[in-house]
Amino acid sequence: MNGKVLPRSFKTQAPLIVKGEGIYLEDEQGNRYIDGCSGALISNLGHGCSEVIKAVTAQLNTIEFAHPSRWRTEATEDAAREVASLAPEGLDYVWFVSGGSEAIESAVKLARQYYLERDGQATAKAQVIARWNSYHGSTIGTMALAGSMARRRLFSPLFQEFPKISAHYCYRCPFGARYPSCGLLCAKELEATIRRIGPQYLSAFIAEPIVGSTVGALTPPDEYWPMIREICDRYDILLIADEVMTGCGRTGANFCVDHWNVKPDIIATAKGMAAGYVPTGGIIVRNEIAETLRDGSGAFLHGHTYNGNPLSGAATAAVFRYLKEHKVVENARIQGERLEAGLRKIEASNPMVGEVRGKGLMWGFELVADKETRMPFAKAKGASALATQECLDRGLVIYPGGGMVDGVEGDNFLIAPPLVVTAQQVDMILEKLEEGLAAAAKKLLS
Ligand SMILES: Cc1ncc(COP(=O)(O)O)c(C=O)c1O
Repeated sequence: MNGKVLPRSFKTQAPLIVKGEGIYLEDEQGNRYIDGCSGALISNLGHGCSEVIKAVTAQLNTIEFAHPSRWRTEATEDAAREVASLAPEGLDYVWFVSGGSEAIESAVKLARQYYLERDGQATAKAQVIARWNSYHGSTIGTMALAGSMARRRLFSPLFQEFPKISAHYCYRCPFGARYPSCGLLCAKELEATIRRIGPQYLSAFIAEPIVGSTVGALTPPDEYWPMIREICDRYDILLIADEVMTGCGRTGANFCVDHWNVKPDIIATAKGMAAGYVPTGGIIVRNEIAETLRDGSGAFLHGHTYNGNPLSGAATAAVFRYLKEHKVVENARIQGERLEAGLRKIEASNPMVGEVRGKGLMWGFELVADKETRMPFAKAKGASALATQECLDRGLVIYPGGGMVDGVEGDNFLIAPPLVVTAQQVDMILEKLEEGLAAAAKKLLS
């Protein structure tokens, strides 16, 4: 190592990765790992997918870059058609960016510009309501939206706070209530907050359909998203679904909102979009919003150099074609059921697994010191880090997270293998996970 890279951490040195093949990763020592979290739920097609590599290589040999202010490319047009073909009906316009944070920033700016164009320059509709315990990215704007205190406290003097409501954290209900007798107080809080602020000042509500790494695949009750959609409609506020993690087949549906037949106004997506082959993200936009701009000023007043670059387009189109041709989303649903059955057994038998939650191939574990009282581990115990290490020692990579109880305490991790995983590989993952968590529980609870 020549030490010139500013690393994610100076405290540990990550192994050098030299190869990826299917669901496997290999380091320079020749150790093989199962990529049980697809990097960070991005490598949805696994590693070394020849169809995507061929498409990107062919694009490099055609035109590697053409600035979107001057040129269109067939690769980007093709990608938009492919993405729209799997998106909810009526969301037919795609704006491409380079990653998740840019997608969220684009969605928030588009919501503001939409109301300016629809209602005139005097409109005050600008603020966005978000949720605590969410994650929307690492830029200053997305940190202002996101509610994961553990990740943003250090930087909070840099941004202006957006209003927030509670998440549907049923395992630790913020209202001290119980589902279903609660009547979904967490969804009703949106209406109360809109009324308090005044819908005339609000452009959108943003949330992750299943909350990712900040809480560990927090999955809403089935009524939640339809209720949220209805409230947004009633108060004339756009609904932005942050599907950066949940989109593109991850949860066993094309987009996670499909589980509840809800159509957001804007879907922000990224990770699985080009599945890690090229940095890519995008927003998928309801027709009326795009057409209001088309018939108004004629342009979205926004842009990045890499918007709609042809390499991202070629990769995205190839990924979406692969999803369809190989029935990958169906595989995510089928293998997700197999994975869930095994995870439920671990949930029942392991003394530190408080709750397992998720859908398709996106599952989260909440770890607790006491299953009865749901008491979290003290932060100093480093429970999710220890669980991660025990699994890694057995050749399984999982994705740790934490701080969801109060911004400091709370341990979780995600298990989310590539969507091309086979039944036999699911069984291997379960075996390693069970062993790793049993070893971690022994150390943490003794
Ligand atoms: C739900 C969600 N939104 C936004 C982001 C930000 O994406 P990126 O890291 O590509 O900027 C992430 C990244 O993990 C995410 O999980």
